[in-house]
Amino acid sequence: MTTSPLPALSGPLVARGLTARAGGNLILDGVGLSIHPGELCGLIGPSGAGKSTLIRCLLGLRAPDSGEVSLAGAPPRAEGVGYVPQQDAIHRALTPRQALDFAAQLRRPELDEAARGARVVALAKDVGLEERLDVRIHKLSGGQQKRVSVALELLTEPGLLILDEPTSGLDPGLEARLMELLRRLARQGRAVLVATHATASLPMCDALLVLVAGRVAYFGPPNDALAFFKAESFGQIFSRLPLRTPEAWAKVHLQDPQRAGFLARPVPLVSRPNNEGNAGVVSSPGPAGPRRRQTTNLLTSLWAPPRSSSPRSRPSEKAAPHERGVGLAGAAQHPRRAISRVLGGGLGERPRARRPGAAHRRAVRGRLG
Ligand SMILES: Nc1ncnc2c1ncn2[C@@H]1O[C@H](COP(=O)(O)OP(=O)(O)O)[C@@H](O)[C@H]1O
Ligand SMILES: [Mg+2]
Repeated sequence: MTTSPLPALSGPLVARGLTARAGGNLILDGVGLSIHPGELCGLIGPSGAGKSTLIRCLLGLRAPDSGEVSLAGAPPRAEGVGYVPQQDAIHRALTPRQALDFAAQLRRPELDEAARGARVVALAKDVGLEERLDVRIHKLSGGQQKRVSVALELLTEPGLLILDEPTSGLDPGLEARLMELLRRLARQGRAVLVATHATASLPMCDALLVLVAGRVAYFGPPNDALAFFKAESFGQIFSRLPLRTPEAWAKVHLQDPQRAGFLARPVPLVSRPNNEGNAGVVSSPGPAGPRRRQTTNLLTSLWAPPRSSSPRSRPSEKAAPHERGVGLAGAAQHPRRAISRVLGGGLGERPRARRPGAAHRRAVRGRLG
């Protein structure tokens, strides 16, 4: 039997030009990102950089002051997203089986008792808790407790899973295993975003977003970040950040020719599990995995106004998502297709004047092909 049905995420999580203000301060300033189903994205940045605020905007828990978020071409909806906050909201006196069963009664009322029990066991297997199902949660390790929180979120089979610093307080071994779990969950067809202070496992990610004072200092492949920041390790990125202002980092990133190639990256291949229960995945994502040549209109879509000139989107530049090249192809018409075809888009912080020309786009496609 399969351990869990695959989520039906048929397109990427896309954020464009997000700005958010609180207490008179600009907390997010033109943040853009895209995460395809099948990808694990790491989010790092100093404390106060705006990671949690960004996560709340991505989840639809907080409305940005400007900019937009879409999940598979539509605004994120609560039932389609899973969110593991920094502070676990689990009853520690319960066992994982009890906690999952109670939550399933609430969130999956259509399941009868037998189906619920089977679902709980399958989820426990998915997150590596099958041996600990009947141990009280307060007796579990920090990593195992976090796995309970992850399993609770997987009950509704969300296509998007976001975790806010789930590895805080975990030793390096547990941290690496949790990140491995997240990568596996991504490979099953979810888009997964994890904010973290732990840098050792970042190479496991397909994408890395570095946020500093609400600005995107870097969004691209983890390994390329080392060269970008002239750092010898991921930990050293943090000590490189003060060498430039956040505005300067954002500007250098926007001018980095590699950025365009990353935004144009092929969509990972994601397959359904086979009947033997080899859940997930399958071919793709990851730097070494096979990639499908993708029809993308990447760089042809919207760029939000340059941040320096205006922290908010100018109404005159706002266009409907379809006008900006945001949307789905194939999957929307054929939701059961194993392979999602997605039209990606530019992300948004860059002024129109800097849009690469057709020749550059052809070159990017050629490199990726
Ligand atoms: N509701 C709020 N009112 C005022 N300031 C806020 C509010 N929420 C967050 N902030 C401020 O926004 C900044 C970013 O916070 P946060 O998103 O929690 O950062 P991170 O998760 O990266 O540590 C911090 O300086 C924080 O103090
Ligand atoms: Mg935070």
